[in-house]
Amino acid sequence: MAEIVIVPDDQVAGELAAEAILRRLIDQPEPVLGLATGSTPTSTYHAMVRRAAGQDWLKNLKAFALDEYVGLPDGHPESYAEVLRREFIEPMGLVPEQVMLPPGGLDGLSTAAAQYEAAIADSGGIDVQILGIGTDGHIGFNEPGSSLGSRTRVKTLAESTRRDNARFFSSLDEVPVHCITQGLGTVLDSRHLILLAFGAHKADAIAAAVEGPVSASLPASVVQLHPHVTVLVDEPAATKFNHGDYYRFAYANKFEWQHL
Ligand code: F6R
Repeated sequence: MAEIVIVPDDQVAGELAAEAILRRLIDQPEPVLGLATGSTPTSTYHAMVRRAAGQDWLKNLKAFALDEYVGLPDGHPESYAEVLRREFIEPMGLVPEQVMLPPGGLDGLSTAAAQYEAAIADSGGIDVQILGIGTDGHIGFNEPGSSLGSRTRVKTLAESTRRDNARFFSSLDEVPVHCITQGLGTVLDSRHLILLAFGAHKADAIAAAVEGPVSASLPASVVQLHPHVTVLVDEPAATKFNHGDYYRFAYANKFEWQHL
């Protein structure tokens, strides 16, 4: 079941996403959250911090990041470990041990990938996974051509992704070439996916992801195979949908029990 919700802007999306995430996690004895990085989840993290930072139940929370660059030195400000520390872990009042990332050191990557999969499984699995989408249709760092059943592994970043992410670095040359990412199969194991897309530059990718054929050429299209996906899209990102009017109508007329 996918629910596609078109909202005015990323702030509204962040509030809706935070509400859905917290509702899902708060009553779990051992809640597990899947984190994305990049600019997309910022409004969701801010809303989560406003609503729940420091609450007692958070002591039981575990979180797993989707991906990490490979080869950045420890403590690099643009490593996803650092970004999540600044933007989520500390503002939320979590301790670093509660949040796992796939390790981006150069040694033992394939063992580390298998261990990461095992850690997710040992946690009982991810209750809700936050996802952004790349302009080339990636989720996590599963670039076009990724197997729909893939698990955590090392990938080479697409040139377009490196260019998109160069805004976080001083030059394109500084953007790593490799990453370690949960696979599409790993993502599908999460119990609820929340896919966010903001801005006109995401319009083609998000339309193809939810309306196009399911294909390794557009890795985010794998979400169509998941039983519970919520897609939150701002107006500029919603311009390429074939069925945008239907999504608006369906959301406005949803049953009382239908919720994000
Ligand atoms: C990062 C991740 C990526 C990003 C995507 C969009 O953890 O999973 O798939 O969500 O590259 O990046 P932004 O949000 O910066 O546009």
